[in-house]
Amino acid sequence: MEPQAVKSNLVLILDYGSQYTHLITRRIRSLSIFSLCISGTSSLKSITELNPSVIILSGGPHSVHAAGAPCFPDGFVEYVEKNGVFVLGICYGLQLIVQKLGGEVAVGEKQEYGRMVIEVVKDCGWLFRGKKVGDKQVVWMSHGDEAVKLPVGFEVVARSEEGGIAAVENPRRRFYGLQYHPEVTHSPEGMELLRHFLFDICGVTAGWKMEDVMEEEIKVIKGMVGPDDHVICALSGGVDSTVAATLVHKAIGDRLHCIFVDNGLLRYKEQERVMGTFETDLHLPVTCVDASVQFLSELKGVTDPEKKRKIIGKEFISIFDAFAHDLEKKLGKKPTYLVQGTLYPDVIESCPPPGSGRTHSHTIKSHHNVGGLPKDMKLKLIEPLKLLFKDEVRELGRILDVPVAFLKRHPFPGPGLAVRIPGDVCQGNALDVLRQVDEIFIQAIKDAGIYDEIWQAFAVYLPIKTTGVQGDQRTHSNAVALRAVTSQDGMTADWYYFEHKFLDDVARKICNSVRGVNRVCLDITSKPPSTIEWE
Ligand code: XMP
Repeated sequence: MEPQAVKSNLVLILDYGSQYTHLITRRIRSLSIFSLCISGTSSLKSITELNPSVIILSGGPHSVHAAGAPCFPDGFVEYVEKNGVFVLGICYGLQLIVQKLGGEVAVGEKQEYGRMVIEVVKDCGWLFRGKKVGDKQVVWMSHGDEAVKLPVGFEVVARSEEGGIAAVENPRRRFYGLQYHPEVTHSPEGMELLRHFLFDICGVTAGWKMEDVMEEEIKVIKGMVGPDDHVICALSGGVDSTVAATLVHKAIGDRLHCIFVDNGLLRYKEQERVMGTFETDLHLPVTCVDASVQFLSELKGVTDPEKKRKIIGKEFISIFDAFAHDLEKKLGKKPTYLVQGTLYPDVIESCPPPGSGRTHSHTIKSHHNVGGLPKDMKLKLIEPLKLLFKDEVRELGRILDVPVAFLKRHPFPGPGLAVRIPGDVCQGNALDVLRQVDEIFIQAIKDAGIYDEIWQAFAVYLPIKTTGVQGDQRTHSNAVALRAVTSQDGMTADWYYFEHKFLDDVARKICNSVRGVNRVCLDITSKPPSTIEWE
């Protein structure tokens, strides 16, 4: 999706590095208003090109006094005033406004962190319209510096209980500022304030719907891909590539050519299950390549996790390459485009702290399902989901009639079960054992009705043998581990608290029905310190 497709009512977030910046974007989108987030030090040209109605300056870990502290570009204030753009500064954003418009920011004597109470100090202000002097509310603060002298024309409309400035406004110049974070749930009235600010003060109208996103995106794809161009897409069986391919298919029909590779590292009956969805439910043109022998022979005896990943990536490239060449022979011309299911969090520019040595750059997804692509193919990219968050992709998938059960599937890593068998994936019948154990565990989770509460659940094959007693006989068989985590985005995670009875039932079922397993362990570590996968 191209930002240019959004013609009016854009709320643009300038990111100064707060951990909550993405949350502001999401909160605003939840009000059916389109919102984008770009680096806080973007050029004036990249800001003006987007033609925003409102600009929000995010919080950030910096002090406005630090050398190289990030700031909006020269000419910003003149631009917003000339064009009637509303500006809201949050935390660091407020301090930037105060400092740049002629006020004063000092290192706070009483640094305010966490839950605080603020009090309205002005009747008939704009930000707290409807409230009276003395009305209180709980908010979430996190700042060291504080505004001590406001620029001319600004007024304090709320203060913290300690007397610090909590909210300021200058309605005539359309500048507003909050020293707290309205976007976090710890500020219970924060969402109401954002709603009031955007709709009542800025006059933004709601109208951003996923149906429109879909129509707009189809139009963009049709305009981009020429009538004789062909497009290829690697399907992983995951939500993102499936939704991306379904959308492109709707736009250009069978000039889209998908490939699904069985690398021998898939879950129980995965190939049949996902191919069933692709063909029967989505009518996607998919070539299924069973390359399990090729992958497993390359992986045999390899124990280093990074080496395993590299081999899988390389094999994938060679299969993809062969697919593209076959297609070229068949069509008489090279495919021109490649579809990728890149999401917004993968491309959002972030604002690293000054002095970190990092520049504002695209964060490239480190876990790449495709594992790189052949260099000589020179394919142009179609990334139709690149402005969407995961839950928005799921919503888009629902509109595109992707089965709901498919959209809710837990993520599965590109290298598949290879990262769930520490060491050699070809040891004994590890893959087969792991598939059976995983299936029992996941089915039990589904039967218990808790699948959707869990971000990701899976089994791990432990490459050790332990002593057991089964059917009056001593056994020397493998142990397996169960892992289930809750998470927002996979960056951090907590282990999931199962009921004891559930665990007891699952462990019994595994040992009773999977030959070669006599012990079941539960992984009770969060991320950090562990990662979600074992390798
Ligand atoms: P970790 O293990 O790093 O995983 O905590 C975070 C999320 O990423 C997935 N993951 C991968 N996905 N290729 C992928 O496509 C990989 O090599 C890979 N390693 C981990 C993992 O399943 C979890 O959702």
